[in-house]
Amino acid sequence: MQKSLALLASGMGTNAEALIRAVSLHPEWNLSIAVVISDKETAPVLKRAEQLGVPSMAVPYSSSFGKKVHEEKILSLLDEHKVSWVCLAGYMRILSSHFLAHYFNKEEHYYQVVNIHPSLLPAFPGKDAYKEAFLAGVKVSGVTVHLVDEGIDSGPILIQQFFYRYQEDHFSDFQMRGKEIEWQIYPQVLELIAQNRIATSIFRKVHI
Ligand code: GRF
Repeated sequence: MQKSLALLASGMGTNAEALIRAVSLHPEWNLSIAVVISDKETAPVLKRAEQLGVPSMAVPYSSSFGKKVHEEKILSLLDEHKVSWVCLAGYMRILSSHFLAHYFNKEEHYYQVVNIHPSLLPAFPGKDAYKEAFLAGVKVSGVTVHLVDEGIDSGPILIQQFFYRYQEDHFSDFQMRGKEIEWQIYPQVLELIAQNRIATSIFRKVHI
């Protein structure tokens, strides 16, 4: 049976693009990206997705109605599209345990929500990980694809790849080296989802 996925993103959407392109290159995965949702009306990811043939919509957040209502709006869209997996691709909001509960896999005990984070977790969780790693003077950094849990970037790790920081690197060189790895490794998780290999791919539980 085909699995239906949704992407949640707040920004440029370069990872969303990599995921969309991978799905269309791999019909044998039998996956469909049903919808791209952004919490920001002006996020470039919305146009990017439409140009690639994937419906996209903004569900803007407002403090007048709060997190619960915002998440309910998103959940009802995801239900409409019969989404079984959610991929966060630069989504800048923390999902509540109520939201995550909708995607709980009862047999394998994880949430069917994945995220990409631009550091070698558990190092540098949270916002601005490239900046923090660079300013900390790391010689090696990396990118992590992980399952989402109730914490911040603390869920079980599925894929991780390192890259070097060179002495002559400016921040932009360092970040671009990482981004190129992001676009390569995030699509790999789609194959794991397609082949029901998530549980057996967890290689590290993160304890921060
Ligand atoms: C990426 O660096 C990703 O690792 C982080 O947010 C950024 C999103 O970039 N979670 P983009 O919108 O996919 O270009």
